[in-house]
Amino acid sequence: MKIRLVNGPNLALLGKREPGIYGSETLVDIVAAVQRKGEPMGVTVEAFQSDIEGELVHYIGQSRGHADGILINAGAYTHTSIAIRDAITASGLPCVEVHLSNVHARESFRHHSFLSSVCIGQVLGFGGHSYQLALEGLVWHLRERAKK
Ligand code: DQA
Repeated sequence: MKIRLVNGPNLALLGKREPGIYGSETLVDIVAAVQRKGEPMGVTVEAFQSDIEGELVHYIGQSRGHADGILINAGAYTHTSIAIRDAITASGLPCVEVHLSNVHARESFRHHSFLSSVCIGQVLGFGGHSYQLALEGLVWHLRERAKK
């Protein structure tokens, strides 16, 4: 099973960026932990990060045939990007939305996600551990779907 892990703007700064909100783990730490968790499950995790909306759109849109599912933390584009939403739909792949912080307990402009209604689920508020929970959920979904 192959999963694409997509991270959007400013997430390469994790570790230094607002640690009181996002924690002290770097994106490299988080990606490595997700890849380690995937190994015994027979899951390969390919990670991609960009600050550029078009690059994210392109990577997601090209995922059909290269992955079984997508984990995405689109950062602030979550709240603005119809193009990323359309790329998820175009990929035809099940997608889980991830956030480190509980966006619903923050500013009101973070309460709306353009992505959530085209994702199979959301995991948020557990810091870097949100990614691990999201991987579990996505793999569970793919295995359940395969039984049908
Ligand atoms: C975030 C939440 C977003 O609102 C914010 O713009 C981010 C990070 C999170 O993981 O908590 O960049 O996606």
